[in-house]
Amino acid sequence: MALTASLLLRQGLLYSARSNFIKASTATMVMQSRSRHSDPLPHLPVPALEDTLNKYLRTVKPLVTDDEFRVTEEIVNKFKAPEGIGPKLQVRLEQRAKARENWLYDWWMRSAYLDYRWPVVVWSSPGLVFPLQEFKTLDDQLSFAAKMIVGALDYKRMVDEKIVPVEYMGKDKLDMSQYFNILGTCRIPGVTRDSISFFGQEADPPKHIVVAHNNHFFKINVYDKNGNTLSARQLVHLLRNVVERSTHPTNPVGLLTTQNRNVWGKAYKKIRKDRMNRASVDEIQRCIFLLALDGPIVNPTGNIMTDAALNCVHGNGPEGYAGNRWYDKTLQFTVGKKGAVGLTYEHTPAEGPPIANLMDHIMDFIAKGKDGLEAESKQEIQLPVVDVPRPERLMFNVSQDIKLEIEDAKVSLQSLVDDLEMTCFNFTGFGKNFIKSQKLSPDSFLQMAIQLAFYRIHKEPGAHYESASTRKFLYGRTETIRSCSIESVVFAKTILDPEAPVSQKATALRNAVEAHKNYVKSAVNGHGVDRHLLGLKLSAIEAGFDVPTLFMDVGYIRSSHMRLSTSQVPAKCDAFMCFGPLVPDGYGCCYNPRPDNIMFGTSAFNSSPETDSATFRAALEESLMDMHSILLADGGIKSKL
Ligand code: COA
Repeated sequence: MALTASLLLRQGLLYSARSNFIKASTATMVMQSRSRHSDPLPHLPVPALEDTLNKYLRTVKPLVTDDEFRVTEEIVNKFKAPEGIGPKLQVRLEQRAKARENWLYDWWMRSAYLDYRWPVVVWSSPGLVFPLQEFKTLDDQLSFAAKMIVGALDYKRMVDEKIVPVEYMGKDKLDMSQYFNILGTCRIPGVTRDSISFFGQEADPPKHIVVAHNNHFFKINVYDKNGNTLSARQLVHLLRNVVERSTHPTNPVGLLTTQNRNVWGKAYKKIRKDRMNRASVDEIQRCIFLLALDGPIVNPTGNIMTDAALNCVHGNGPEGYAGNRWYDKTLQFTVGKKGAVGLTYEHTPAEGPPIANLMDHIMDFIAKGKDGLEAESKQEIQLPVVDVPRPERLMFNVSQDIKLEIEDAKVSLQSLVDDLEMTCFNFTGFGKNFIKSQKLSPDSFLQMAIQLAFYRIHKEPGAHYESASTRKFLYGRTETIRSCSIESVVFAKTILDPEAPVSQKATALRNAVEAHKNYVKSAVNGHGVDRHLLGLKLSAIEAGFDVPTLFMDVGYIRSSHMRLSTSQVPAKCDAFMCFGPLVPDGYGCCYNPRPDNIMFGTSAFNSSPETDSATFRAALEESLMDMHSILLADGGIKSKL
């Protein structure tokens, strides 16, 4: 998709937006981007080789035996020697960085997302659970959905008008390009590699959303002929029409999007052969966002937070609402019959924070009554809903062949659904205010609590991934914080040692938190280990060299097998993000630290005999409370509690 003049005009200096560069050549992308910026943000640096390798060795040490570590050291020394492959790759990487605005961006999009062939469901797309609602009637459900739509469109207006406040990290402005990438975007399946289309950035961007109900899809134009957003009342009317016209479930074509990407890529070609299917798929892909009206939670666990999280992540599978989705779509809101509300987002174009901001905006918009629905319903005489075209049903010809594909998708998805287990909870022992009062970084404190929980259960440290934002840099995405450190292991062992005095425990805690905070500082400044190593590896592959031994060494493999996949996604409202583990024997753990409580979404796989999310929750809560008691017993600053 070519970048248009109107788009250029819509972007300010602090903002950046991207055309569908995946379909453009890299050179074109660089030129297009340059023409839009006068270098408002610094470029992602390439760290010094020696620095990265030293940091790397420190992160490997806790995860290998002494003998294994000696081998890793030897491999690293050979790699970085002047005659080794490392310096050559470093030169190539530095050259690449000179020629681009962000040396990692397109490599990252491909290696982290578009080349990833596992299903996006569970393995890649997070869920975001909104504050739980209580709906007694269909009207309640539809009214909320309508308000949600109006709130999201108001946010879109702010994005389009570039008035979403620019975010900062300390004094540094952050790259805002992700905000332009989430509305009107869709991942497109391919047989060996996917692509992504930013329809919202076209000269004539889409003006419709798609509403899913009982696996039927309907197109709703959300602007009237004068370009004004439809009112919540008009939308309720249209949503009711959707519900009335889809009383029985139809073929769950959407289930195809839950498949392994190669399988879906092939089925996609088949489905598009039919003209009507092609038109329907196009409308779904192009829409601003999708909103799914679901029934009540299927197979409830007894924990409403967990139920809502599972419904966001996988829709409770083929027997639930997974067919009532199009998982390629960047943004899909879900509004359940009883009040489980949330969204799932396809991760390729953005990280969690812009999505959480969108949710906060919607919830604030509704809380303040800006949708106007309540006010209008109090008026004695209500004007009739006129001039709104009825929703257009998006039809599918489901051939026998496609039916078989759907049956296969059902089987694959069900096994994923059966495997994923989650435990979501609101920890109320304390929140980030207490941690701050102890002069500690809340995020680092929570990361150390997660490390401790893992050690408590497994009696060994676990390689631990936390996302750090690199949005200080132009088109920045993330770096990995390797939260498992020499200090975190000393900390875990000391806390669990009944003989260790409190002062020693408190010192170990503070040292571990400090070490983590130092890694965070490196990571957000583009000086982490993982993206640099990835760059060196991909430089080798691009140059046609053998992949260096460093990447096959046990030190690399074990320190990259992230048994803990974690992320902080803060939100103003009582909400939390959640996702599956990164590896079969791992945990997922996402948290929203609030002033006096912390919302957690944790996950594990049933197929791993070693992991269990309920056990993890118990260990995490115990760890948090232990850390709290130790700080207080050591003379913590009680007055601020
Ligand atoms: N004493 C007192 N207060 C402290 C402190 C200390 N020693 N250290 C930090 N704080 C305060 C901070 O000033 C900040 O205050 P604020 O709430 O007024 O802003 C607050 O505690 C939070 O800071 P901290 O917990 O240290 O972490 P952070 O908010 O800087 O977050 C990361 C750290 C790594 C999570 C963040 O930098 C980041 O990269 N976030 C994006 C992650 C992401 O993209 N996730 C999504 C993936 S899908």
